[in-house]
Amino acid sequence: MPQEHVTSRREFLRRATGATAWLAGAGTLFDSVATASPAASSKSAPDLVLALTASQSETQILPGKPTAVWRFAARVLKGDGASVKPSPGGYLGPTLHLKKGQRVRIEFDNQLPDPAIVHWHGLHLPEAMDGHPRYAVGPGKPYVYEFEVINRAGSYWYHPHTHGITGRQIYRGLAGMLLVSDEEEQGLRLPQGESDLPIVLQDRTFGRDNQLAYISEGGDGDRAGSGMMGGSMRGGMMGMMSEMMGFLGDEIFVNGRRNAVLPVASRAYRLRLLNASNSRIYRLAWGDGTPLTIIATDGGLLERPERRAAVTLAPGERIDLFADFSDKPVGATLVMRSLAFENPMGGMMGGMMRQGKLPSGAAFDVFRIRVDHRDGRSARLPERLSALPPSKEKETLNFGSPRPFRLTMGMMRWGINGRTFDMDGVADDEIVKLGTSEVWEFANDASRMMAMPHSMHLHGAQFRVLGRTSSGRRTGLRESILDAGLKDTVLVLPGERVKILAPFSRYVGLFPYHCHMLEHGDAGMMRNYAVRA
Ligand code: C2O
Ligand code: CU
Ligand code: CU
Repeated sequence: MPQEHVTSRREFLRRATGATAWLAGAGTLFDSVATASPAASSKSAPDLVLALTASQSETQILPGKPTAVWRFAARVLKGDGASVKPSPGGYLGPTLHLKKGQRVRIEFDNQLPDPAIVHWHGLHLPEAMDGHPRYAVGPGKPYVYEFEVINRAGSYWYHPHTHGITGRQIYRGLAGMLLVSDEEEQGLRLPQGESDLPIVLQDRTFGRDNQLAYISEGGDGDRAGSGMMGGSMRGGMMGMMSEMMGFLGDEIFVNGRRNAVLPVASRAYRLRLLNASNSRIYRLAWGDGTPLTIIATDGGLLERPERRAAVTLAPGERIDLFADFSDKPVGATLVMRSLAFENPMGGMMGGMMRQGKLPSGAAFDVFRIRVDHRDGRSARLPERLSALPPSKEKETLNFGSPRPFRLTMGMMRWGINGRTFDMDGVADDEIVKLGTSEVWEFANDASRMMAMPHSMHLHGAQFRVLGRTSSGRRTGLRESILDAGLKDTVLVLPGERVKILAPFSRYVGLFPYHCHMLEHGDAGMMRNYAVRA
C-alpha cells in the first residue's frame, strides 16, 4: 500500500488536539455509554492502535492516463502487525483484521477535500464510534475512534458515511473489508491466511481521460450509444434518473480491478464476497453449475453450510463461500457469474434503467478463478459451523404488531414512512428501549410506476429475518435470496413485506437505518432510530 499520505504520528497528534478536547467535552455521551457498557469505557490502554487516512490518489487501471481515486491507507501504530493487509491488487482500502474482545483505537485523518466520517458497517458500537454523519469532520481534520470489538467473527466492512455524498465517496474508492475473528471460528479450522480472500464487488463507468464517471459527472459524454439517451444526456436526464433510481456502472470491478482473475492454489478457500456497489444487485452462481456453498452471511457463520444454485447479493450485503479447488488441475479456470433476473424496477424509470451497457438483471461474468499452482492440502468443511441464538418472536416487545416501516416515494424523493433524513431528528415511532428486541416490518408497496428494490440496513444491530411475504411470482432474484443467519442488511423487493427481529442490546444513542442503495440513502432514504434506557 502506498504510505506516502500517512502523516507522521506527531503531526497527527498536533492536529488531533482539537478533536480530543471535543471528545472530552462530550461527557454525556460517554456517560451513557458507560452505563450500557463498562468495558468499552474502561481506561485501560487499547490492544491495537491504527492510523487510517483517506486521501486523493491515483492508480493505473486502463492503459494511458492514470485514474484518480480516493483511497484509504492504514498502518499499525501498536499491536499485531498483521492487523492491516493491503487490498489485493487494487486501490481499495486495506483489509483490517480485528479480534473479538480487542480494544481498538483508530486515528482517522481526513485528507480529502470533502468532509468525511468512517462507519464500521455491521459492528455494534457506541453512537460516537459508529460513524453517524453528524460526526463528519472537515478536510484536514482527525477523528479518533475507540471501541471494543463485541461482534462475533464475520465479514464486516468500512466506508465513509458523509451526509448526501456517501455514494460519491465510496464510488471514488473509499471502502475496505473489516474481518473479525473469534475463538469459536478459529476452532473450526476454516481456510485461513492466503486461503481466505476478500472479494469486493463494484461497478464503475469510465468517462473522459480514463477517469471514473459518477452521476452528473459527465460520464461518457464523448462516447456514443451508451444508454437510451446516448452520450451527452448522461449528465442531464440520465444523471437525474440514476440519481433517483440508483447508479449502475458499465463494467464490473473486483477488488478495484476490471476483468479480475484471482490466482489460487489447488486447495480449499474461504471467499468473502462483499457487494460494495452503489446500487447494483448480483445473482451469483458458479459458471459451471456447481452449487455455491455458503458458510456465512452479514453477521458471521451460519449454523450449517447452505448449498444453493445461486445467491442474491444486494448492496451492503456479504456472503462467505467455501470453495474447494483441490481436484482442479493447474490451469483450470472457474467463472463467478451474475445470472439473469427479471429487472425489479418498474414503470418508466425502470424502463430507462434497463438501458445502458450493463442493465439491472443482465447476465455477466463477475470474476474468474485460475488455479495456478498445486497444493496437496485439503480442508474439510464441518457440517456444523455455529449455534445462533433462537429468534423467539414471542419474546419481542411488540409481538403480534410489528413496527411498520413503509418504503415511500413522495415529491420524487425516496423516504421511510413518508419522511426523509433529518440529521439529529427522530420521530416518536422511531424510539426503542435498550435491552429489548422488536419485530420491524419493511413494506415495499410502491406503485408500479416507482417499483424499486431497496436494500435496508440498520446500524447498531444484527437482526434475524423472520420472513417475507410477496406475490410469489418467480423473478429469478427472489428465489435466490438467502435470509439465513445474522443480518444487518436485507433486500426488500417491490411488493414485498419483510419482517425482521432486531435486538437493541448494548448501547443507547442515535443510529441510522437506511437504504444501502447509496443514491437512495444520499437522497434521504435514511432515518435515525433512538435507543433509550
Ligand atoms: Cu454501510 Cu449506514 O452503512
Ligand atoms: Cu452500517
Ligand atoms: Cu432504496
